[in-house]
Amino acid sequence: MKAKDQTERPRIAVVDDEPIACRQIKRGLGQNRYTIETFGDGESVLKRMGAVFFELVICDLRLPGLSGLEVLREAKNRHPQTEIIVMTGYGSVDTAVEAIHGGAFHYIAKPIKIAELRSLAERALEKVKLVREKERLTKALFSQSRQQYLIGHSPAMQQVMELVKKVCSLNCNVLIQGESGTGKELAARALHFLGVRRERPFVSFNCGGFAEDLIANELFGHERGAFTGAVDTKIGLLEAAHRGTIFLDEIGAMPPSMQVKLLRFVQERSLNRVGGIKPIPLDVRLIAASNQDLKAAVAGGHFREDLFYRLNVVLIGLPPLRDRKDDIPLLVQHFLKRYSLQFGKAVSAVEPEAIEILQRYPFPGNVRELENIIERAVALTNREIIGPRDFPEDLQQLSISSIESGHWPTLAQREKEYIQRVLIRTGGGKTAAAEILKIPRTTLWRKMKRLGLK
Ligand SMILES: Nc1ncnc2c1ncn2[C@@H]1O[C@H](COP(=O)(O)OP(=O)(O)OP(=O)(O)O)[C@@H](O)[C@H]1O
Ligand SMILES: [Mg+2]
Repeated sequence: MKAKDQTERPRIAVVDDEPIACRQIKRGLGQNRYTIETFGDGESVLKRMGAVFFELVICDLRLPGLSGLEVLREAKNRHPQTEIIVMTGYGSVDTAVEAIHGGAFHYIAKPIKIAELRSLAERALEKVKLVREKERLTKALFSQSRQQYLIGHSPAMQQVMELVKKVCSLNCNVLIQGESGTGKELAARALHFLGVRRERPFVSFNCGGFAEDLIANELFGHERGAFTGAVDTKIGLLEAAHRGTIFLDEIGAMPPSMQVKLLRFVQERSLNRVGGIKPIPLDVRLIAASNQDLKAAVAGGHFREDLFYRLNVVLIGLPPLRDRKDDIPLLVQHFLKRYSLQFGKAVSAVEPEAIEILQRYPFPGNVRELENIIERAVALTNREIIGPRDFPEDLQQLSISSIESGHWPTLAQREKEYIQRVLIRTGGGKTAAAEILKIPRTTLWRKMKRLGLK
């Protein structure tokens, strides 16, 4: 507790070549309210400012080496949020005025009256706090508006959005299903940030690829000494999500014994940390996502039926992009704006032929793949309008003009390119690729062999 208090205290640097003056100021300001460090010259304080953030620097104008004005200029340049109070000797009013013009918060004449310095410091710190708070809020708003925006005017997406609006402020569990890249996480964030829990934490956890012990440890935390290496008590993600939302991605990949533990949590709304005896009651909204049909996994005996019904109170199904091609132009505009802004470019439109190509492409990687294609095109182009030439080669071949100019690819070529693309998407994973292609794994294997992909 003590350590935390200390890190939350405002940090002040006092710069004066007279150690006595530094000590007096340090004592005068009250060391239990602030973390105060003292420096004998400008170079050392600037160096330290590169490592930690100081809310306030109180700096003498007359210093050995760099002058106070130089320190002020450099500090303001590198750390605009830090406020600076300069200390001036008798008769150096002009320099004090110059300091104010250079961005100092205020000046104070020597010999220092500590009450005056204290009140100046308080005002400066208040200003820093407000500026930082404003910046934090702007950032949070920006990232939220980025996160909660589900784009799409196709009837299928409209239905999804209606459902999101309807259930966002309820406490019921939600299961989101959809192929990879269809926007499951985005939908989960929308549910959280549009709902009454928006001010509370949104905690995301991917259940895929972790050993059971690790998942238990992450989700439930542990008590000190629960196992070798558990030196401290650790709060799990479910506890961290108290009053907020936990998003469990790839829930289908959760090992059976963890499914039991999760079921207990969902039923009792309390948990025991690993090695803990006392149940901890929690208020957490649960959103789970799966890119496989969870009901089929239940039928196949891979997922607990009782847990499935607990999670599946409301089901949001995200349609694959190839089933809502009407949304492509809108999504393209959305990503165009995002990446133009991000890369500082003025790309404003996409040629109709390029849109046609996109509408002909089946998007095995769904919206994420479309986003990647646009991101890449914006990054590479020198023009303001994106055309087919800015797309990867296999996409360019979908262009009518390339077909009309006599370059008719064979079916085998097309098949090969498409399988390659899917394999890239799955990172070489054949089981996942076969799933996307809706063919048995053995068929995929045979095709790859025939097409020279092995
Ligand atoms: N309807 C949409 N509007 C805007 N952006 C979207 C939409 N759907 C998906 N995206 C974007 O596509 C990318 C992939 O979305 P997201 O991560 O939510 O997919 P996912 O279904 O969770 O994928 P995976 O199963 O691979 O984890 C994200 O960058 C997201 O912002
Ligand atoms: Mg996801």
